[in-house]
Amino acid sequence: MSERASERPRISIIIPTYNERDNLEGLFERVSRALSGAGYEFEIVVVDDNSPDRTWEYAEELGKTGGYPVKVIRRVNEKGLSSAVIRGFREASGDVFVVMDADLQHPPEKIPELLKAIDHGADIAIASRYVPGGGVENWYWYRKLISKGAIMIGRVALPKIRSVRDPVSGFFALRREVVEGAELNPIGFKILMEILIKGKYGKVVEVPFRFGLRKAGESKLSGKTMLNYLKHVYRLMKWEGELDRLIKFSIVGTSGIFVNEGFLWFFVSELGMDKYIANIPATELSILNNFTWNDLWTFKDLRRYPFWKRLFSFHVAALMGAFVQWIIYAPLVYLGINYLLANLVGIGASFVVRFLFNRNVTWG
Ligand code: GDD
Ligand code: MN
Repeated sequence: MSERASERPRISIIIPTYNERDNLEGLFERVSRALSGAGYEFEIVVVDDNSPDRTWEYAEELGKTGGYPVKVIRRVNEKGLSSAVIRGFREASGDVFVVMDADLQHPPEKIPELLKAIDHGADIAIASRYVPGGGVENWYWYRKLISKGAIMIGRVALPKIRSVRDPVSGFFALRREVVEGAELNPIGFKILMEILIKGKYGKVVEVPFRFGLRKAGESKLSGKTMLNYLKHVYRLMKWEGELDRLIKFSIVGTSGIFVNEGFLWFFVSELGMDKYIANIPATELSILNNFTWNDLWTFKDLRRYPFWKRLFSFHVAALMGAFVQWIIYAPLVYLGINYLLANLVGIGASFVVRFLFNRNVTWG
């Protein structure tokens, strides 16, 4: 790639803001220095939701007095981080978009590294907290745990993003084509996750960075954050067709109960088998029934491994499910909870474990 500025991609830095006046000057300064230093032509697109501290006004002022190439969008009737970023994509004129927060938790000096990854063929380059070399500044262990747990849920529920370590980062770069024409949902809570599911891309690269401390002002994302995140994961599962699979998997599971009961009755009443023994072949037959329908229906598009491996792995899932069911049932009963209720909770947990194992391993 040539070093001449005219042949390099034009960059649009998209920054959603809400009450970030006190961070703007340092931000513009550092972004400009980092990008000019690396020889990029760029614009800064600020999308502000009519902040009470008049961030939008100050951004325009800085553009004039400081000579920064700033484009300010002041939204009066809309609100929200994701929708602000999507609006930024629409207004940006560059070939490559960089999305970052205004509060300097995202060090602007990382931008050239993200752009280099794009230059080297990545379609999306993510500044990631959870690859070696990355991290977070001053987080309590439980905050880290919640963050990592949330990411794990997302990665397990959405196999498409399984290989991404930090799919909820708010700091990333992408080629314009990735989001052009993509149906991004503005109420989607984590915009990167939305892009990773719905965007058009091939290669994703993660660049480690340290998520710093907010320079000034306060975070807007708290309270209902976790619930909203889970809702977002749910909507993306639906969009991906993963929810349909979940429904098919439950229908198959229900059919298995009938097979199990039917054969148990047949072995005991018709063949006169021992009741304790008859349960074993009846259960095995229901497992075979479930495997067959899941293989032919629920996961028919995901048959990558040889038949015997899938069959074996399905049995492993069944065993794990039985174990989880028991490990939940026993202590609940011990705690005095009604045994039928306890069993129901156990069955629920077993269902989740079996679905996830089968989705990610047997048909992964
Ligand atoms: N226009 C607009 N509208 N901007 C907003 C809104 C909004 O409703 N809410 C927040 N912002 C802006 C903030 O001004 C800031 O520049 C950026 O979006 C991030 O907001 P913070 O409030 O600082 O978020 P955070 O630090 O808690 O979360 C960040 O890290 C998370 C990973 O832990 C964000 O980058 C998240 O996207 C990210 O998932
Ligand atoms: Mn922040």
